[in-house]
Amino acid sequence: MTIRSIALACGSYLPDHILTNAELAKKLNTSDDWIRKRTGIAQRHLAADGETTSDLALKAANQTLERAGLTGKDLDAIVVATATPDHTFPATATKVQAALGMTKGFALDVQAVCSGFVYALSVADNFIKSGQAKRVLVIGAETFSRILDWEDRTTCVLFGDGAGALLLEAQDQPGQSSDRGLLSTHLFSDGRHHDLLYVDGGPSKTQTVGHLRMEGKEVFRHAVKNLANAIDEALAANALSDQDVDWLVPHQANVRIVEAMAKKLNLPIEKAIVTIERHANTSAASIPLALNEAVEDGRIQPGQLLLLEAMGGGFTWGSALLRW
Ligand code: UT7
Repeated sequence: MTIRSIALACGSYLPDHILTNAELAKKLNTSDDWIRKRTGIAQRHLAADGETTSDLALKAANQTLERAGLTGKDLDAIVVATATPDHTFPATATKVQAALGMTKGFALDVQAVCSGFVYALSVADNFIKSGQAKRVLVIGAETFSRILDWEDRTTCVLFGDGAGALLLEAQDQPGQSSDRGLLSTHLFSDGRHHDLLYVDGGPSKTQTVGHLRMEGKEVFRHAVKNLANAIDEALAANALSDQDVDWLVPHQANVRIVEAMAKKLNLPIEKAIVTIERHANTSAASIPLALNEAVEDGRIQPGQLLLLEAMGGGFTWGSALLRW
């Protein structure tokens, strides 16, 4: 027998306000046609004034716990993946912890930008496998609208705000690739590519929050190559093949990247959960938002194998295999 991190429930939250491409095109030299064709994005949700990352995270957390029939008191740990924390410190996760009435255990943030959810899953999985925690709430939550340069059409059209959560619990499983739960996580980073995707501010460097800067074309090129490798490693480590994957649950940066990964897995695009049209790129929140949508509408069923993958600033990238 082996301890696995089993998915108990998921949940998500999107802010009410929707900004369409057409509305953006009124303020910027861009068009609905360009944004849709190059990215697949039609609209994005934006947090209201005063609505913080922890507010979004808390709503996703509450929905998840309610669905599992549990409360914050039943958790041992909270891991929040975010690159847009409420404050420089303390961790956004501790705000969520307090709001959930959780007074034991611990809460921490993980910073891996768009790969954050895969990184946070890996952190949570290792707490569970080592016996340090039995129930861990993993949250991806972002308010990227706060770090966008709204005059830079090459970046501001790409991102949105939102949050998603997944509750993991330690359970004994036979120790095979047919087990339920997280079969593996694979994490990678290469800090040499800092300048291709970064925020030009920070407490130590500029004492400001800063704005997101990206060399989109270069990031795209690295993403396709790195994600393909991360997928190969995940399958090989579990002696599984592309035929075993039921659903691709990818980070939603560009529909063309998702299509390339589906093609690599010999999956029809219908077998990839695609939310980018409505959510845009919500960084660490995009995978749990997509996961929750497909669980809610019944596409993802118990026993099915999900392949999660993401790539982001750093560069960071990674993959996870999760049997629902
Ligand atoms: O989540 C983290 C990881 N992020 C990613 O994976 C993002 C990866 N990159 C991408 O998704 C794509 O590279 C973008 C969507 C960011 C850009 O698409 P592209 O096909 O690589 O376009 P480009 O940057 O090469 O720009 C093509 C043209 C340029 O004009 P010229 O130089 O050809 O005259 C841009 O100035 O499109 C222009 N352009 C725009 N036009 C209208 C750039 N942004 C816009 C815009 N509206 N919003």
